[in-house]
Amino acid sequence: MKKTIVTGGAGFIGSHTWVELLAAGCTPIIVDDLRNSEERVLLGLEKITGRKPVIHRIDCTDARAMNLVFVQEKPDSVIHFAADKAVGESVRDPLKYYHNNIGSLVTLLRVMADHKVKDLVFSSSCTVYGEGDKLPVTEDSPTGAAASPYGYTKVVCEQMLRDASIADPALRVVMLRYFNPIGAHPSAHIGELPIGVPNNLVPFITQAAAGLRDKLTVFGNDYPTRDGSCIRDYIHVVDLAKAHVLALQWIAKQKAPLCEVFNLGTGQGNTVLEAVHTFEEVNGVKVPFVIGPRRAGDVVAMYADTAKSLNVLGWRTELTLGDALRDAWRWQLALG
Ligand code: UD1
Repeated sequence: MKKTIVTGGAGFIGSHTWVELLAAGCTPIIVDDLRNSEERVLLGLEKITGRKPVIHRIDCTDARAMNLVFVQEKPDSVIHFAADKAVGESVRDPLKYYHNNIGSLVTLLRVMADHKVKDLVFSSSCTVYGEGDKLPVTEDSPTGAAASPYGYTKVVCEQMLRDASIADPALRVVMLRYFNPIGAHPSAHIGELPIGVPNNLVPFITQAAAGLRDKLTVFGNDYPTRDGSCIRDYIHVVDLAKAHVLALQWIAKQKAPLCEVFNLGTGQGNTVLEAVHTFEEVNGVKVPFVIGPRRAGDVVAMYADTAKSLNVLGWRTELTLGDALRDAWRWQLALG
């Protein structure tokens, strides 16, 4: 049985991936200090699978502690989710982002080298495309013009992985560029846990619908799109999680050195207003909203070309925007 270290395994995407890894017969080991998560995620994982997650509560930039995890667990591969991801916070506190996001990858690559672990899946983001040169965005579109320090940490980590795989011909790396992950597990035992006021659209929608927020502000309705609001590629987190399993299985069949990048999106763009109205339709709940000014740093439209993920990994999304918004609402109701 293949053993995989899942850094950030108590986080939003990491926890859903833990479920899919287990279902695929892997042994996923969580490395997460729960700084952006809660015990309830671990309980949720147990409720879904009947298995108590193995977790090492350590900071991924702590080389000694990471080394001990590798000594103890003897993993075959790693999926590295652990990172800070709040765009606005990264503008206010860039050093936190450069330290945690880049520092944890440096530490991880060193520990992997010391223990001769060669297979790695890395969480990247469509933010590396900046504005994007064409739509849908393909993997060979130019990267590097990210709109925030958070975005730049992903650009730098991707480059670090390209350089590391040139230097170590045994390394096999897949970098997954996520578009907009939303939704929750259909069981409503795990989902997103935004800290404080949500920055992202869907947690804000669910909180506004639940009456926890006054109203949603739609950031701009004067963009050159079909209804004036921005277009994004919203992908159900369960579809996204499944891609990580396929990526690990695909890596295992490849020859090293390998450093390949894949888009993970639905290939469909939806506007903010479409997301709001779909939420209302599938859940039969109203979302109080107003139109506000544009948000600094937002790109007009971004959605994925998914041909490479389909042709190479054999991955395609199975769930719809409506499914994701239904599951997000169930999770909100479960949170209370
Ligand atoms: C951002 C990041 C992305 C990151 C993701 C998750 C950039 C360019 N994008 O995506 O890399 O992975 O967050 O953390 O850095 N909106 C509203 N009202 C709200 C909130 C959002 O109208 O209250 C709109 C936004 O203007 C945007 C869309 O909803 O058009 C999606 O926003 P959001 O969920 O924050 O994700 P992105 O900004 O696309």
